Amino acid sequence: MISALRAPLRRAAVQASRSVRASAQPAARQYSTAPAAKSNAGLWIGLGAAVAAGGGYYLYSKDLTPAEAGKEAATAGKTGVAIAKNYAGFKPTKEDYQKVYNRIAEIMEVDGYDDNSYGPVLVRLAWHSSGTYDKETNTGGSNYATMRFAPESLHAANNGLNVARAVLQKVHDEFPWISYGDLWTLGGVAAIQEMGGPKVPWRPGRIDGFDKDVTPDGRLPDATKAQDHLRHIFYRMGFNDQEIVALSGAHALGRCHPDRSGFEGPWTFSPTSVTNEYFKLLLDEKWVWRKWNGPAQYQDKKTGTLMMLPSDFALVQDKKFKEWVVKYAKDEELFFNDFSKVIVKLFELGVPEKQWATEPWIMDSA
Ligand code: HEM
Repeated sequence: MISALRAPLRRAAVQASRSVRASAQPAARQYSTAPAAKSNAGLWIGLGAAVAAGGGYYLYSKDLTPAEAGKEAATAGKTGVAIAKNYAGFKPTKEDYQKVYNRIAEIMEVDGYDDNSYGPVLVRLAWHSSGTYDKETNTGGSNYATMRFAPESLHAANNGLNVARAVLQKVHDEFPWISYGDLWTLGGVAAIQEMGGPKVPWRPGRIDGFDKDVTPDGRLPDATKAQDHLRHIFYRMGFNDQEIVALSGAHALGRCHPDRSGFEGPWTFSPTSVTNEYFKLLLDEKWVWRKWNGPAQYQDKKTGTLMMLPSDFALVQDKKFKEWVVKYAKDEELFFNDFSKVIVKLFELGVPEKQWATEPWIMDSA
């Protein structure tokens, strides 16, 4: 399909789904058995080695102090040095990153996986790699891509993200000069834009860390909990109430999987389109507890095919959160603007200012 047509077509499909909701059926579920991403240790070690070799590859870290460069280099191995030599002098431009974006967009749509798209799980990977940020200790966030390492890769909150990491590993094999943090966040940006969402400005600059940088378990939100917990978790990252609600609009996308979180089902009838449907449904539908053997979750009374997590429902139970749910349900443009801004902030959490070499770019849709 001519890609320029993709987003408008999707949006038309969303409009259609709004008018014929009752006939919409969740797609058949198939759970990927894709293996966990291979470690490719030599390649990311190569980044540190390039610094040590002063090879000029490391252009996005403008002014690493010798101590920082030494820290990176100390863990670099011989393989890394060899690989770094191949990259020395290679300075990726916006066009190079656009090629990576295009490749991600190309492999995103796939028959037989969930709703025929890896888009939602790519957004979740980018979010979980960024949402570990703690502003007090200035640890976590998207900088080091620590989810490559156990135990973070095995944290229950990250169940199923091996699928997204494996998909992006294929892209990394083709573009081995990109850092994993840049690749995963670019994956999130590509997914949002290609699924009809707003443009999300993005810039490179994240570096690959080491297993010592892995974040402790418990930094991501628990879906069984409500507003106090949401505030505790998201304030820690530096977000306010409005931003918490805007971020939650991402649940227009994707679905819950019993073999990952234990919950089941999609939030909206259009799980591969970025829309404000999540907010509309939260307000307009009657939500009842689902009677089943799984964890407590809501289902829509009318069709019984949609779901809300207890943490989603908290957004309409809390007065301050609800004000924003109402605004975003009424005004999709407002939601798109705020969503774009808050995603930029999310994806840049934990990256030191000095690592950015450029103002954010708008990547072209594929
Ligand atoms: C507010 C607190 C949040 C909680 C408690 C929460 C919880 C969850 C849970 C339990 C799942 C299902 C995982 C599975 O079974 O596959 C999920 C999926 C998802 N979440 Fe969240 N989430 C939250 C916020 C966010 C944010 C801020 C974003 C992005 C900005 C996001 C994006 C997604 C996406 C796109 C999926 C679908 C993944 C797929 O289809 O594979 N979530 N979330």
